[in-house]
Amino acid sequence: MPFLQRILYPNVKVSDSKLEKALLNKTILISGASFGIGRLLAEKSAFPNTNVLILGRTEEQLKEVCTIINQKGGNAQYFVGDLREKKTTKEFLDLIKNQNISVDVFVNNAGKSIRRSVYDSIDRFHDFTRTMDLNYYAPVELILSLLPCLSKKKGQIINISSIIVLFPSIPLWSAYQASKGAFHIWFKSIKPELNLRGVAANNIYLPLVKTRMIAPTQKFDKLPAMNPEQAMQIITNSIVKRNYNYKPWWTMVVKPLIFIFKRPFYKATIMNSK
Ligand SMILES: NC(=O)c1ccc[n+]([C@@H]2O[C@H](COP(=O)([O-])OP(=O)(O)OC[C@H]3O[C@@H](n4cnc5c(N)ncnc54)[C@H](OP(=O)(O)O)[C@@H]3O)[C@@H](O)[C@H]2O)c1
Repeated sequence: MPFLQRILYPNVKVSDSKLEKALLNKTILISGASFGIGRLLAEKSAFPNTNVLILGRTEEQLKEVCTIINQKGGNAQYFVGDLREKKTTKEFLDLIKNQNISVDVFVNNAGKSIRRSVYDSIDRFHDFTRTMDLNYYAPVELILSLLPCLSKKKGQIINISSIIVLFPSIPLWSAYQASKGAFHIWFKSIKPELNLRGVAANNIYLPLVKTRMIAPTQKFDKLPAMNPEQAMQIITNSIVKRNYNYKPWWTMVVKPLIFIFKRPFYKATIMNSK
């Protein structure tokens, strides 16, 4: 790993045996496990006494992930659907009910980011509804339905968030920041109630991660992004420790800097938008 990346993202190592123990006889549900971080996490959860339930839109990839997990001796099942559509959550929740699946760990990972000037969004109201549907409404609806079971089993919810919700406003990211931020606030509000009922509620605030999500923005190629494997390890650490939240150490340095140098930062971000 290049020097700067090592400093920004010190390695978090979690042994397979600890993860296997934490997931023993449990069902882990991972949204958005056809690609990227969710997929790596699903494949990492391939243990003989763990059920892995994954969902996403791309059936071919989901099938492949299940085959890999099952070949490793694990037990995997997939569900295909677009979480922006109400019928997907309903059909998925019906499946869980009909098959008597009780979820112990829910990793809210499916997400979409958009980087676009508000002036380029004038005819794109759907940018805002789609991000809200996926990044806010879908996980809220899933959690509401899973809550009785998660409470009974003293389970865990891990929210895969972004450092963007920790910072003051960031130009060009309004759809993403608002939708991730809405879920962040909602999750923060319900967390004390969940904790009282024995449900762990953790946030993983990720920086840029080298997945297909950031691939369309060539500018990001030069930035020291985190590897998806590291992001996956951080999530496994949260599963093992149950009480572990993550944000890169440098967010507490960057946050006041953005605040102090707001004007030049905003100007540079906007001027550099193309
Ligand atoms: N990459 C980053 O720089 C970064 C930074 C901070 C936070 N995060 C967060 O990390 C999480 C994982 O992102 P990633 O980087 O691994 O991105 P990714 O490789 O694009 O994976 C996103 C996953 O979400 C699924 N998904 C997207 N839209 C969906 C929809 N409408 N319905 C159901 N599933 C959907 C995708 O599957 P299908 O396409 O098959 O549906 C895919 O499995 C996201 O919540 C993201 O906001 C990422």
